[in-house]
Amino acid sequence: MTAISPFVQGLPKVELHLHIEGTLEPDLKFKLAARNGVELPYASEEEVRASYQFDDLASFLDAYYEGMSVLLTAEDFYDLAMEYFRKVARQNVRYVEMFFDPQAHTSRGVEFHTVISGLRRAQIEAREQLGVDSALIMCFLRDFQAEYAMATLLESLPYRPWIIGVGLDSDETGNPPAKFAAVFAKARELGYQLTMHCDVDIADSAEHIRQVLEDVRVDRVDHGTNVLEKPELVDYMAEHGIGLTSCPISNTWVSDGSKVGLLTELDKRGVKVTVNSDDPAYFGGYIAENYQRVVDEAGVDEETLKRFARNAVDISWAPASLKERIAAEIAAYKG
Ligand code: HPA
Ligand code: ZN
Repeated sequence: MTAISPFVQGLPKVELHLHIEGTLEPDLKFKLAARNGVELPYASEEEVRASYQFDDLASFLDAYYEGMSVLLTAEDFYDLAMEYFRKVARQNVRYVEMFFDPQAHTSRGVEFHTVISGLRRAQIEAREQLGVDSALIMCFLRDFQAEYAMATLLESLPYRPWIIGVGLDSDETGNPPAKFAAVFAKARELGYQLTMHCDVDIADSAEHIRQVLEDVRVDRVDHGTNVLEKPELVDYMAEHGIGLTSCPISNTWVSDGSKVGLLTELDKRGVKVTVNSDDPAYFGGYIAENYQRVVDEAGVDEETLKRFARNAVDISWAPASLKERIAAEIAAYKG
């Protein structure tokens, strides 16, 4: 991996595709395992890293869920999120909309309240101490039944002011967006913003993207670069200002490349493209490393990088005052 340029490092950034559970670095995994008396099947941090040999989404997800066994208390979720905030504050991340997967925890006996109260405490401290603002997006696991997602949606209601939107992640194969149409209609009714993963190069990806745009009517799309297979949907996204959250380094692990060339193509065709990290502890790159990947592979200029950063402000769900502030910082940025 090439070094991060000073321009990329200092660019004011907004991150819209970040799974907080995907920021669990091996050293924190060991620390939490020791604190909670959880036995890990690895002798060292190096062994954990060496085990990360993903060649598709499913093999990544196995490691991702296994890692969560050490997350048990509110303090664990607080520590997890604080470590992420500290890292990205150094990359000049100004605002994050971060995914969390409540069902990955409630399904193993950890309460919804435990998860969200730890994350919330970290969010408040990150704003006060690091100047990083944030919001939470609750993701449903698409390989579980729709009824469990609906129950989780209802369980979230006491925390409604803390959650800005809902998403859909986990194993997409055989789990199309349509499976969750009623859950997302209900979430819309409750005032949540909507997004869904359409992972790269999954079977039926273009049809899944059609469903999220035309049937579910999401506000944005996570990954989703296969939309290029349906030009009429590219036009639809451009016309309606529906942006896409891409994660170049993640793409190299679960498909045949970073897909950076597709981002510049979508940018040319008027789609609001953004650059994000997905699961940085597993894929080996935070948001600045992902921007750098775009520079290294597509040779884009500084104006294009600023446009991608600005796109993230535009398609975010932040309050207008915060959006204006960050947009002004990006406009004034000279590196
Ligand atoms: N896709 C699907 N599920 C996930 C992802 C992703 O990018 N990251 C964490 N869970
Ligand atoms: Zn993701």
